[in-house]
Amino acid sequence: MCPEKGNQNLKEIDRSGYRKRLNQLEFDAANIPNTPMAVMGKTTILAVLIMRWELLMVDRALPNHPFESVESLIRDANQQLLSWKQVTFAERSSQLYAGNLSLTLEAGHKDLFQQLWVEFSEADYLERISRYDHRLNVNGLNNGFLKGSRCIDFGCGHGNFAHALRNAEAASVLGLDFGQDNVAFAAAAADRLGSTGLEFVEGSVYATRTPSDHFDFAVQNGVFHHLEDEDMAYAEAIRVLRPGGWMWIYTDGQDHIAGDIQDTCSRILRDIEPSTVMRYLDTMNLSTGKRYHLGDSLNAVYRHTGYDEFVERLQSYGFDEFQRLTGGYATDFDADVILSDPWGVEKFGEGDIRVLARKAESSPRT
Ligand SMILES: C[S@@+](CC[C@H](N)C(=O)[O-])C[C@H]1O[C@@H](n2cnc3c(N)ncnc32)[C@H](O)[C@@H]1O
Repeated sequence: MCPEKGNQNLKEIDRSGYRKRLNQLEFDAANIPNTPMAVMGKTTILAVLIMRWELLMVDRALPNHPFESVESLIRDANQQLLSWKQVTFAERSSQLYAGNLSLTLEAGHKDLFQQLWVEFSEADYLERISRYDHRLNVNGLNNGFLKGSRCIDFGCGHGNFAHALRNAEAASVLGLDFGQDNVAFAAAAADRLGSTGLEFVEGSVYATRTPSDHFDFAVQNGVFHHLEDEDMAYAEAIRVLRPGGWMWIYTDGQDHIAGDIQDTCSRILRDIEPSTVMRYLDTMNLSTGKRYHLGDSLNAVYRHTGYDEFVERLQSYGFDEFQRLTGGYATDFDADVILSDPWGVEKFGEGDIRVLARKAESSPRT
């Protein structure tokens, strides 16, 4: 097929073809019992599917329509899956993974992210910090905007964003995360790097145990889209921000092919403990960034959101001014990346949603 300009109207795009293929993959995977060999097969095949799609995703000159291309990748993955099923007869016993059915969504994420965030070498960690320096920079937020501000980072992971906020002259940053290992890693890294003004605390984003109207700047960078109850977390953010204070928000957009693949993967692997999936990934000699990315893509559960609907929700929480931000990297699904690709809307849908939102001077919930 000759590449023509893709369809720029999101609502008119029919994604049912490749989504049906993903449903078939999920159906076939569900019919293969989770023996050790089957789980190894599922993990490997899905990891390869994600990486193969990513190679096409970043290609700005795809010879075929991306839906056609991704359908063919999913078909390959399905055939591989069925071939792994054939050979599970060779297993010593039909022992199954016990699964993590007893884990709630958040307990699963707690387990997962503690495995993802603590494996960073010093060089990789410094690279992550500079990534957030750059994100603040491209959005004009490190030119005095944050100077002297009191910040809180909801779900700070290993603390990379907190360092970038201090580099942008924030007075202090409280990083909060429910992963004990994440917080320990973040605190040890801050000590090692001699960074002051940073505090990392183990705790829930729903109840930060901090005073009301206290912070000038809050961050939720890729956290609330994993939660059971987003409304409750935003209510807490509104509570602790001072009126007129700002919040950096990054949440997943909707209708992107990578997200559809990711959702299918996390459903296929949902009964497997993240530590088991990570054990198989760890045999693959992946770079730290890829290990993080695949661990997240295979295991984490995301809520996808449309921009307009999202801003309406933010208004209902008590935010009143909004500025769309950019991620600043070619691998972010930003407007310029989408527009520079003939199939940008088909591939990336609404794109990443990064917003700077201001807490209204008089908020409905305070
Ligand atoms: C995708 S990571 C993002 C980390 C960090 N914000 C960043 O951008 O580098 C999500 C983080 O949120 C944390 N998290 C998820 N649910 C949480 C909750 N209910 N309370 C506190 N932390 C939570 C996880 O432990 C994880 O570190």
